[in-house]
Amino acid sequence: MVLRSCAKSRAPATANPQVSGCPRVAAGWQVRPRTVGCLPATVGKIAATTYWMHPAIPSRVWNYSMDWGMQNRLAGIISPTTRRCVMLAVDHGYFQGPTSGLEQPGKVVAPLLPFADALMLTRGVLRNCIAPDCRVPIVLRVSGGTSVLQDDLSNEDLTVSIEDAVRVNASALAISIFVGSEHEKQTLANLARLCDEGQRYGIPVLAVTAVGKQMTRDARYLGLACRIAAELGAHIVKTYHCEGFEKVVAGCPVPVVIAGGKKIEEREALLLAYRAVSEGAVGVDMGRNIFLSNWPVSMIQAVRSIVHEGSTDVQAWEAFVEMAGQRGALHMTQVVPS
Ligand code: R5P
Repeated sequence: MVLRSCAKSRAPATANPQVSGCPRVAAGWQVRPRTVGCLPATVGKIAATTYWMHPAIPSRVWNYSMDWGMQNRLAGIISPTTRRCVMLAVDHGYFQGPTSGLEQPGKVVAPLLPFADALMLTRGVLRNCIAPDCRVPIVLRVSGGTSVLQDDLSNEDLTVSIEDAVRVNASALAISIFVGSEHEKQTLANLARLCDEGQRYGIPVLAVTAVGKQMTRDARYLGLACRIAAELGAHIVKTYHCEGFEKVVAGCPVPVVIAGGKKIEEREALLLAYRAVSEGAVGVDMGRNIFLSNWPVSMIQAVRSIVHEGSTDVQAWEAFVEMAGQRGALHMTQVVPS
């Protein structure tokens, strides 16, 4: 094992449009004024009134043809100020049972809630483990029907009625689609039906592009799945970061958030978040890389600084080290395989 200082990060320095050779300008990014109504999806605040606009990002995170309720719910999830979102995902139990780190979801979630823009979970955990005075918008997992005991996880149905989603005051409905799987058609039909229901009640739908065991998580496949989700009516799409992620975003006319995936080193997870938002994601819907960290509160705060404050992964890592250091001994170093 080698101890490496975080100062040796691979991340580029913060871009500055005034500096000649600025990498973002060279890559086609634009500095846009922040105006009420045009809702630019942006990366990195560079002044009080201007933002970086990635060339591939959709120019709106929602549109005004939507009903007031739909817009209002989306605005609760994706910040109208930064056009960004930190969603905390703790819905894993819907097919994994009492999975590591989520044995007691209420205890795990409580200290993280002040830093989450939205909370993604099932109605069972919501009703039993989350206090009803919770002010964080709920993204309700409404698909399921298989468990980790099955080889094929794609055999999902809708598992919550729209009336029950309304009853728990859901701000969005989350459903998995399995493009390219045995049950592709069924899961896509589920999504289309859910979008109809959501449309009827003004509740946006988040489509999770789940990846089957045989599927490669590349831009071609994820781009296909994301675009299909948006075409069928999803208002937000959740997918994985991959090489060529900009193409995935460019081909998807609705906001994209990334899943964190399996637990990795905090330093790497911050780089993942940074790359995703730099390449056009409106934010993250992250679970394991937050709640499985030894410093989950510091971790969600560091992720938040990347998503909402335009921090680089280096800056976020330094902040993480400092915060985690205050919460328990952690040195300004990173353990990486030799
Ligand atoms: C799928 O199992 C769920 O929607 C997860 O909540 C999702 O994949 C995000 O969690 P993680 O960041 O742990 O991948």
